[in-house]
Amino acid sequence: MLTRFSILFSVLYLTGPAFASHWKYDNEESWAALCLTGKKQSPIALNEFIATKKDYHPFNLVGYGQINTALLKNNGHSAEVRLHSSAEVPTVTGGGLIGTYKLDHLHFHWQSEHTMSNYRFPLELHLVHYNEKYSNLTEAAQHTHGIAVLGVLFDLSPDDDEDFKPLLEIIASLKETTNEHKVLTDFSVKNFVPRDKAGFYRYEGSLTTPGCNEGVIWTLFTSTLPISKKQVKIFEAIQTEEKTTLTKNYRSLQPLNGREVYLRVSPIRENNGNIQTWTFPVALSILCNVLYSLGNIQKIYNSEC
Ligand SMILES: *[C@@H]1O[C@H](CO)[C@@H](O)[C@H](O)[C@H]1NC(C)=O
Ligand SMILES: [Zn+2]
Repeated sequence: MLTRFSILFSVLYLTGPAFASHWKYDNEESWAALCLTGKKQSPIALNEFIATKKDYHPFNLVGYGQINTALLKNNGHSAEVRLHSSAEVPTVTGGGLIGTYKLDHLHFHWQSEHTMSNYRFPLELHLVHYNEKYSNLTEAAQHTHGIAVLGVLFDLSPDDDEDFKPLLEIIASLKETTNEHKVLTDFSVKNFVPRDKAGFYRYEGSLTTPGCNEGVIWTLFTSTLPISKKQVKIFEAIQTEEKTTLTKNYRSLQPLNGREVYLRVSPIRENNGNIQTWTFPVALSILCNVLYSLGNIQKIYNSEC
């Protein structure tokens, strides 16, 4: 009897935590309770018309330029990067954040989770940070404002991006291997953050994967980085633990529910207005608005008007 009980216990123990990671992007309706009932969920549609302009202090990023050894992993839901043997954990202050936040890891979503000016970008990077007053990310996730995510959007470029090459070579080799690390030398976080960090959206949301914990401070830089279609395809070839291809790993847009969204406009962008602001997303957004006004809205490839 005792043996049977202990076998049963072991089975429950083993399946319990494993089950928690067995959520899928194609059935969000069976995600954890808070993902379905929460009123401050992420991602959201970002748009300058819904945002309140706010003049935050600039960000202060310390240690992002160090050359690190990084550990890369296909966790079955994303490709993640953790710094290894780092002399100093990169930290961020400023940008309206209260206190100091430590970088925990980076991971990617293909296509983007947030839309900006009605455009869904091919790739979004999340730099996940936690407030230094907590001992780790898990503990920080239990507290309001315990986690701050810096989001970077990537826009298509005809040329392969050089900074992505070494990273993508390893990610390609991990596409069929979940939860095993490979080492990437000479990794610098700085290469994956736009130079112009003065422009960004800010709102309070959640983790975009189960358990969808709320109280996360979100920052989405308005300046994007380039990536080629060929490079995006390397992400799209990644497989899940069940050996199915993870062709997309973005959560659907969540309702704002009256939350405030703030926008800090980059002075760089304002000064070079004509050159900088005529990007494809802006042009597409204008096209979308024209289509709206004609009452003839169509779903355009890679966009949500
Ligand atoms: C995170 O920190 C808490 C509190 O100090 C601790 O109990 C827990 O074991 C830690 N978790 C991990 C994954 O390190
Ligand atoms: Zn994410």
